Amino acid sequence: MTLSHIVAASQNNVIGVNNDLPWNIPEDMKFFRDKTKGRALIMGRKTFESVGHPLPKRLNVVVTRQPDYKPEGAVVVSSVEEGIELCKTKVDDYGDEIFIIGGGQIFKDTMDIVDIIYLTRIHRDYDGDILYPDVDPEKFEEVERRDREEPVAFSFLTYRKK
Ligand SMILES: NC(=O)c1ccc[n+]([C@@H]2O[C@H](COP(=O)([O-])OP(=O)(O)OC[C@H]3O[C@@H](n4cnc5c(N)ncnc54)[C@H](OP(=O)(O)O)[C@@H]3O)[C@@H](O)[C@H]2O)c1
Repeated sequence: MTLSHIVAASQNNVIGVNNDLPWNIPEDMKFFRDKTKGRALIMGRKTFESVGHPLPKRLNVVVTRQPDYKPEGAVVVSSVEEGIELCKTKVDDYGDEIFIIGGGQIFKDTMDIVDIIYLTRIHRDYDGDILYPDVDPEKFEEVERRDREEPVAFSFLTYRKK
């Protein structure tokens, strides 16, 4: 089983503002869709609500402390660990790569257990209220990089745990 983060972050590590993304980069949205299609996704309740609907053709696992939270089209768990255990039982249907798709607290809590980070790095600063942790070069190595210039300068980066 592989545990992966998939995230887009600015130069100053911003990933969100006012419960939304600070940018609109269609090629990154397509990258996210292609990478996660058919897979199991774990996300915080606010990220789920920010997307506004379950992501189609994927297992949507939502982490919340609210015992009565029961959105349609998603499975609810009370911790990330519970979410991971659930996804492990669904490998036959959704494959053995589990994607953690945010938000801030969930990324931070799983930084030490993740195997791969797909990081879309936008090469400018944004104002925002949710941050992604620094990727520790002692723990992760960059194994792939694809640079883009439109609509802003950004790079698709892949890191693997050393
Ligand atoms: N740029 C990107 O790649 C990216 C990706 C994802 C999200 N985002 C952005 O990030 C923002 C949302 O992130 P966020 O950090 O505010 O919220 P979040 O992590 O999506 O959700 C937080 C909620 O998850 C639940 N939760 C978190 N830790 C938990 C734990 N240990 N046990 C049980 N439940 C737990 C709680 O839900 P309850 O309050 O219901 O208990 C908490 O309020 C938005 O702006 C979104 O657009 C950006």
